[in-house]
This record gives sequence, C-alpha cells and structure tokens, in this order.
Amino acid sequence: MSWNGTRALVTGGAGFVGSHLVDALLAAGARVTVLDNLSAGRLANLRHMADHITFIEGDVRDEATAVSAVRGQEYVFHLAANADVPQSVKDPRTDFESNALGSYHVWRACLAAGVARVVFSSSAAVYGEPLRRPMDEEHPLRPISPYGASKVAGEILGFAYYHTYGLPFTAMRIFNAYGERLGRYVIYDLLAKLERSPDDLEVLGDGRQVRDYCYVADTCRAFLDAAQCEGALGQAINVAGGHPLTIADLVALLLRLLRLEGRTHVHYTGSSWQGDIKALHADTGKAQRLLGFTPQVPMEEGLSRVIAWLRRERGWTFGGQL
Ligand SMILES: NC(=O)c1ccc[n+]([C@@H]2O[C@H](COP(=O)([O-])OP(=O)(O)OC[C@H]3O[C@@H](n4cnc5c(N)ncnc54)[C@H](O)[C@@H]3O)[C@@H](O)[C@H]2O)c1
Repeated sequence: MSWNGTRALVTGGAGFVGSHLVDALLAAGARVTVLDNLSAGRLANLRHMADHITFIEGDVRDEATAVSAVRGQEYVFHLAANADVPQSVKDPRTDFESNALGSYHVWRACLAAGVARVVFSSSAAVYGEPLRRPMDEEHPLRPISPYGASKVAGEILGFAYYHTYGLPFTAMRIFNAYGERLGRYVIYDLLAKLERSPDDLEVLGDGRQVRDYCYVADTCRAFLDAAQCEGALGQAINVAGGHPLTIADLVALLLRLLRLEGRTHVHYTGSSWQGDIKALHADTGKAQRLLGFTPQVPMEEGLSRVIAWLRRERGWTFGGQL
C-alpha cells in the first residue's frame, strides 16, 4: 500500500514522537494535519515542514475540536497526551482528561468520520512492573502510575469500540523512544546534566533500572506499517529496540560517546521517581511477525545523532570545545 495523497491526522504532532511521525508521513507522500494544544509540544519541532502541513492549535479534551480535526481524514495517529509520568503524579486529573477522555473523543470522532484506521500511541507503562521478562502483549496490565492507568483507559476503550462499533483500531505500546528533538526523559536529562556539569553526574535510582530503547524513526516506521497492515487491526503491538540495557550501561555509553570516561564522577541517588518502572524489556516478536519490524538504528548510532543535534541546535559542548 502507498501513502501517496492519503489524508492523515497526527494528534500531538508538535511533540517529540509526533513531529517525527509527521516527517515520516510527509516523506511517504501523505497530506498531513497536526492537532496539538502546545502544552508540551513546540512549533519549532514543525518549523522545517511548516509549509507542507495544516496545523490546528486545539485540545482533544474538547470533543468538538476532535470532531472537526478528524473530519475528512483517512488515517488518524493519536499521540496527544500528557506523556510525563511525574507530571501525572502531580496532576492526575489533567493527565486523565487528556489521555483517557481525550482518547474517548478521538475514538468517537474517528467512528463518525469513518476513518480507515486509527493508531493509538500507547505505552509500556500499561504493563507496570514485569511479572515475566521479556513482556509480550499478553502480559497483564497492572499500571503503577496515573499515567499508566490513563493510557490503559484510552487503550481498552479503543478496543471496546473496535469490538462494539467496528472502530478500525490498533494500539502501539511504545517502550522508550529517543532521538533528535527529545526535550525530556532519561537520556535528555542525563545529557542536560552533563552539559551543566561534565565533572559530576547525579543519576536517579541505583543504575539497575532496565530500559528498552528504540530510535524514533524506527518507532515511526512501525506506526506507518501498522496503519496499513490488515493483521494489525484490533491488535496491541509492542514497539521497542528489543535490546534492553541498564541505566548504568546507558550512562557508560553516553560518557564514552562524549569522551568523558575517567573525567565524570557518577553518583547514584539510590531512589527513583514515583511511578518509575524498574524493568522495561519488550518481546517484539509480534511486531516482527505482523509488520516485519526490525529496528535499523543501533543505540550507539542513535545516541550519536542526538548528541550531534544538541551540539548543532543548542550549542552544547559537554565540557569540550564546539
Ligand atoms: N517518548 C516515549 O518514549 C513514549 C513512550 C511511551 C508512550 N509514548 C506516547 O507517545 C505519545 C507521544 O509522546 P512524546 O514523548 O512525543 O510526548 P510529547 O509530550 O513530546 O508529545 C505529546 C504532544 O501532545 C500534546 N498534547 C498534550 N495534551 C494535549 C491535549 N489535551 N490536546 C492536544 N494536544 C495535547 C503536547 O503538546 C505534545 O505536543 C504520547 O501519547 C505518549 O504517551 C511515548
């Protein structure tokens, strides 16, 4: 199947993953509309393609906004959400309204518009702490944060709409995406701390938390492929690199890429933030079987691209020369 000339809406398209998804859709020939309330997203993320998209500043918590943005679309990628776990702990109401109620509005709008497919950006946070590793899609859903709970709510309502009303729904459970334009989460926070003080690095937790990173362009490719895959209809699909690493391994890799080994003194705080899942390790067999999904960009290459982007865009030097 082709994307050429198709009409696609990306909610949350001014955010980190959303803006890369817009890039991927435009490159494939789609006509793209973005709906975003700019609560966390930035117009700067879309600046390079501003002439090629339609941008709607609006909020999925408002049903009429969702309905008018979805009208006339063939594909809807629903990413608009509070994506910040600590923020969901501080303000669970806003998190629930954006992630659960907002999703309800989008599903209803998609049904009314008769879209060909709606792809939901779900999260590994729906699983909570693993009962077994790696986690496949049959793993029980036992979220440990308001964020995880609100993503479950959005997801199971989507599946209920699929079974009840035939909503053409697919949920992609992202583990950890990273890449250029990242403005928060662990990788960004570590790099920001190293930029501020390259000699000392404080790391939240004990370094043994496990993460399963996937470079964002690989994540987006899985989204596009899932949207046009018959077998992905009514399915939840894990999207991850499939190469889990500990935070201590990540820190060591970053220090090596920044040539800071032997210079930076690393200190682990011992305790992490509320809602932090200790081990995220995906079974990506379903994505491989259904979508032929294999991540293309190895971690070292992806991190080098992020570092190069921060040097270029922000002028960060990480204790060295520009
Ligand atoms: N980045 C990851 O590793 C990761 C992991 C798991 C799941 N996800 C999911 O992927 C999606 C994108 O995440 P991200 O990391 O790009 O986060 P992000 O914060 O960069 O993007 C979310 C976007 O949604 C917008 N938004 C928030 N609430 C809105 C509302 N009520 N109405 C309209 N727009 C709203 C924000 O302004 C932002 O641009 C989210 O749904 C998130 O839950 C991301």
